[in-house]
Amino acid sequence: MSDQQAQKQAAAKAALEYVEDGMILGVGTGSTVNCLIELLPTVKLAGAVASSQVTEDKLCALGIDIVDLNFAGTLDIYIDGADEVNKHLQLIKGGGGALTREKIVAAASNQFICMVDESKSVEVLGREFPVPIEVLPQARSYVARQLAELGGEPVYREGFVTDYGNVILDTYDLDVSQPIALEQALNNIVGVVCNGIFAANQADVLLKAGSDGVTTINR
Ligand code: A5P
Repeated sequence: MSDQQAQKQAAAKAALEYVEDGMILGVGTGSTVNCLIELLPTVKLAGAVASSQVTEDKLCALGIDIVDLNFAGTLDIYIDGADEVNKHLQLIKGGGGALTREKIVAAASNQFICMVDESKSVEVLGREFPVPIEVLPQARSYVARQLAELGGEPVYREGFVTDYGNVILDTYDLDVSQPIALEQALNNIVGVVCNGIFAANQADVLLKAGSDGVTTINR
C-alpha cells in the first residue's frame, strides 16, 4: 500500500471517532471518503445523506439507509475530503465533480470535518489544482469567456456530466489569494451553478494525516 493510501486510511479512522450511533451522517465523495465508508459498518447510523450518486451507491451496498436532505433537518456532521486546503481550513474541492452537492450538504451541517493526506496542504489555493466550476450546459462558452477575463484558463471536463446534468470547467491560473472574494465573484457569473472554493463555509475540523500520524486542527 502507498504512503498516501495509508494516510487516507489513517485520516478516515480519525474521522470515525466523530461518528456516533443514531446519527444521520453527511458523507462526502472521493477516495479518502471511500476509506471512511469501509469503516461505517462498525457504527449504527440512523442513516446517511450522500454528497453524490457514487457515494450513495456505496452506502446502499452496505445496507445504510439513504436520507433525503430535505427531510433530514440540520446534520450534526459532514465528513469529506478535499483537493487542496490552506491554513485557514479553506478548501478547493470538486476533483470528483460532486462539488455542488458537497457544498449543499456541508452548508446544511453543524460541523464540517475534512480529512486529508499531507499532499493536500498548500500555502495558497489554486496554484496547482484548478478550481472546478459547475456550469449550466448552455452557458459553458459564456462562462468560459468571463473566467478568462478574470485571468483564468478554463478547461472543459469532456465526457463528464454532474449529478445535476451540468458540465465542469476546471479553471487554472485564477488568483485565489482572497478565497472568499473569489468564491463570491465566481458565484455571480450568470450560468455558474457552484464553484469548488469552500471559503465562506470552510472546514471546521481538519484531520491531516502525515508520516507521523494524524494532526487535528480546529478552526
Ligand atoms: C469530490 O468532488 C471532491 O471534492 C473530493 O472530495 C476531493 O476531490 C477529494 O478526493 P480524494 O479524497 O479522492 O482526494
